[in-house]
Amino acid sequence: MRIDILTIFPDLFRGPFSESIIKRALEKKLVDIRLHDIRSYATDKHKRVDDYPYGGGAGMVMMIEPIERCLEHLFAERTYDEVIFMTPDGQLLDQPLANQLSVTKNLILLCGHYKGVDERIRQHLVTFEISIGDYVLSGGELPAAVLTDALVRLIPGVLGDETSALSDSFQDRMLSPPVYTRPADYKGWKVPGVLLSGHDRKVAEWRHEEALRRTLERRPGLLEEE
Ligand code: ADE
Repeated sequence: MRIDILTIFPDLFRGPFSESIIKRALEKKLVDIRLHDIRSYATDKHKRVDDYPYGGGAGMVMMIEPIERCLEHLFAERTYDEVIFMTPDGQLLDQPLANQLSVTKNLILLCGHYKGVDERIRQHLVTFEISIGDYVLSGGELPAAVLTDALVRLIPGVLGDETSALSDSFQDRMLSPPVYTRPADYKGWKVPGVLLSGHDRKVAEWRHEEALRRTLERRPGLLEEE
């Protein structure tokens, strides 16, 4: 899978992409992530990427031209499954959407800033819009990093244990059961006995019950959705 990210702050991604699962996936070449600085596609001498909004008002609006030039450069080399704009008014990211996007080959993530991007970019160049939650962040970079993480961990071979993404919370519309590790008794805080029993079927039943209980307590709506 290849993910091209268009941003005016490429450095914001370097931390999240240079640790842990994403770092390993990049090293194993299971994903190819390219950062593109929109500013380097600006044509004027000030490398301008934003301008005042028509009609007045506060905030700046990202201009069409640098973004279109960057996209044209990418389109000349390959076809993309989606050009995704990260925006609080997009479709809410959830596990089914992450699953669906994780099987695509080439994705572009466009990160907006300031007051937004010129609406014509959304009308003519963007094919899909995603929000990571009902709150407003300062830009699309952190949302794009969140989306990238959600997708990369689903690529076969990225997680050590192939089954572990399948047992994630939400994969079967259920939250995950609690987990424990050594010691079995920490100052009187005990691990549930069934987990020490060595009885696989009983452990599986206990985990299922705990997952169900937790889901009913915390997110009953998950069980009702289709
Ligand atoms: N840009 C700013 N806030 C956002 C959000 N919640 N989701 C996606 N992109 C955003």
